[in-house]
Amino acid sequence: MKRITLLITLILTLAVGIAKAGEGMWIPMLLQYNEKEMQEMGMKISAEDIYSINHSSLKDAIVLFGGGCTGEIVSDYGLLFTNHHCGYDYIQKHSSVEHDYLTNGFWAMNRGEELPCPGLSVTFLREMRDVTERVLEGITIDTPEDERKAKVDQNMKKIIAEVEKETRYKVSIKPFFQGNEYYLLLNEVYTDVRLVGCPPSNIGKFGGDTDNWVWPRHTGDFSIFRVYADKDGHPAVYDKDNVPYKPAKHLDISLKGVEEGDFAFVFGYPARTNEYLPAVAVDQEANVIDPVMVDLRGKVLDIYNKYQEQDPKVRIQYASKHAGLGNGWKKWMGVTEGINHFHGIERKMDYESSFYDWVMQSRSRYMYANLLKDFKSNYKTLEPYQLAYTYMAEAGRRIELVSFAGRFTKLSEVTKETPQEDINRMVESLKKASATFFKDYYEPIDREVAAMLLGEYLKAQPADFRPAFLNDIKDINGYVDNLFNKSMFTDEAKVNALLNGFKANDAKKLAKDPALQVFQSLNGFYRDEVYDHIVSLTNDNARLQRIYMKGQMEMEPEKHFYPDANFTLRVTYGRVEGFKPQDGKTYRHFTTLEGIMQKENPEIYDYVVEPRLKQLYINKDYGRYADRDGTMHVAFTASVHTTGGNSGSPILNSEGQLLGLNFDRCWEGTMSDLIYDPAICRNISVDIRYVLFIIDKFAGAGHLIEEMTIIE
Ligand code: ARG
Ligand code: GLU
Repeated sequence: MKRITLLITLILTLAVGIAKAGEGMWIPMLLQYNEKEMQEMGMKISAEDIYSINHSSLKDAIVLFGGGCTGEIVSDYGLLFTNHHCGYDYIQKHSSVEHDYLTNGFWAMNRGEELPCPGLSVTFLREMRDVTERVLEGITIDTPEDERKAKVDQNMKKIIAEVEKETRYKVSIKPFFQGNEYYLLLNEVYTDVRLVGCPPSNIGKFGGDTDNWVWPRHTGDFSIFRVYADKDGHPAVYDKDNVPYKPAKHLDISLKGVEEGDFAFVFGYPARTNEYLPAVAVDQEANVIDPVMVDLRGKVLDIYNKYQEQDPKVRIQYASKHAGLGNGWKKWMGVTEGINHFHGIERKMDYESSFYDWVMQSRSRYMYANLLKDFKSNYKTLEPYQLAYTYMAEAGRRIELVSFAGRFTKLSEVTKETPQEDINRMVESLKKASATFFKDYYEPIDREVAAMLLGEYLKAQPADFRPAFLNDIKDINGYVDNLFNKSMFTDEAKVNALLNGFKANDAKKLAKDPALQVFQSLNGFYRDEVYDHIVSLTNDNARLQRIYMKGQMEMEPEKHFYPDANFTLRVTYGRVEGFKPQDGKTYRHFTTLEGIMQKENPEIYDYVVEPRLKQLYINKDYGRYADRDGTMHVAFTASVHTTGGNSGSPILNSEGQLLGLNFDRCWEGTMSDLIYDPAICRNISVDIRYVLFIIDKFAGAGHLIEEMTIIE
């Protein structure tokens, strides 16, 4: 047994040592260090073609879309692709019963029909600079933490002020490698962005939550926008006289499709990864916190499912809540399974023992001597607080009655001295919140969720890690019945009556509502008993992590490290390939329209197929968008290292042409945020030929294709 473990460890250690194509989220500015490997893997262009500040490069076509996705420019007239789920909010805002763009899709047949999207912006990275030395000026390894922080802030402010004088771009500085390096970013933010087109949800969200995170996948997850600028090409607020933005570069689109083994890269904005954590942290996340979240959310989802199946109205009411909860639930299951299945903790521990040996080899490495010990003790101390937070937050958020009541906190605190206009403002916004809340509220679900969550909370948490009100509960069901019967927040008429003609005097009555009191008890407990511990331990862990990162880089000076994702532009590359998720099971790297027809089920919302799409399928009317094999390819997988925020990112071929839009990962490999394994970590993209087929053949919006550069 021991020998087998040893052997596995050995193989894994060797695997870690070899450059693993697939792993890594690289800083575009430093891509020359990857160029050789990328070209060996098949890339025909240069690092300069991808990122350059001397001439136009692919980076000029990539944007941060809104606050959390990626988009890319595909024409000289500012036309932009992103995912359907990234454009969703804006599509929804333009939808009404008469114009239900979510259900039916939307296609502007000329520029005049494009829809402005207030609140939406896209951000172009114009330039990046390494400012590490100046940010860390005057700081040594012995500088006390507070002093270090103050100094870093002060240095950053100074640099930003200087650069701001020489540029019209937005200047910011972000830490990389946990604060061992700092890079300055020059960004340009465009705020006149208009909706141009999107497929019906039956295409853009096909498979819905059932298929989310899962391969095989058949989602046409795309939407189209256009960026507008003033007549000089500069950012401008919406104006009907603004003109389409002319980019320094737009992406060419390849109709050649993909073959297994092809080189491919993704260019976009990954949000957050934690690849350099110690074993103890990964273990805590994968085996303590995530399982609790999965368990609690799974139980909530079971309750939703039960009622959603019984009543079509409830199905719609809870669809979006289900989606939000289900996204994390599925992902975290994959994290735990991936970490354990692929010996993630053992790998980390093994690495740590070699790190420790290295530290012990020289006195000059004294600053690393206690790192791992300190991590262990910090995470151990943190664990009960982290759990307390988890239960508190899930109870506070998932019991809708309680979270809704919580929104009235401010109003419950007004006094006779509060200016009437402040009260009016609160009342108006609560009226809106109340209408939204009751539209999608189904009390029987909430009662059952409340009893379940409070029961789990009581069972799992020791008395001194629970808010006071929980400790007094003798009979959960009786308590919940009483809470729901007595609170006014279950009753829209009562809430409206209170809001209409609200007077300062009413605040007292409001404050006595039992649901609001539960909310306050949960929050008060967190504020008084948990918050300080979490903050101070997390800050200290950040300090340890910074030192550990430095140590790792010092130990392996030859190794090419990449910084964790931090919502800055990155390049990541690998190959188009399927995988073996389990013994005896192999996933092919692409799916086709046949698969959509196989999944078709008019009874199941997620699997309804659009009649027009079906007709095109029957007629095999795919035009030039068909694959060589004659079928219509829909999605494909690749071993490219991506995470949240990479939604909408272009996946490009060896010549830098657009192959598809990244939109998801396979859940078996979602541990890639903590440890990347090229054997099972796969990203999922919609094939660009399917996107163009939908635009052209399905929607008849061929005029959009004419703007693009198509490589056949
Ligand atoms: N799993 C993807 C992500 O993390 C897609 C989520 C949206 N799609 C959905 N069916 N809920 O964002
Ligand atoms: N769907 C994710 C997003 O919205 C991308 C999938 C992932 O986490 O890899 O960014």
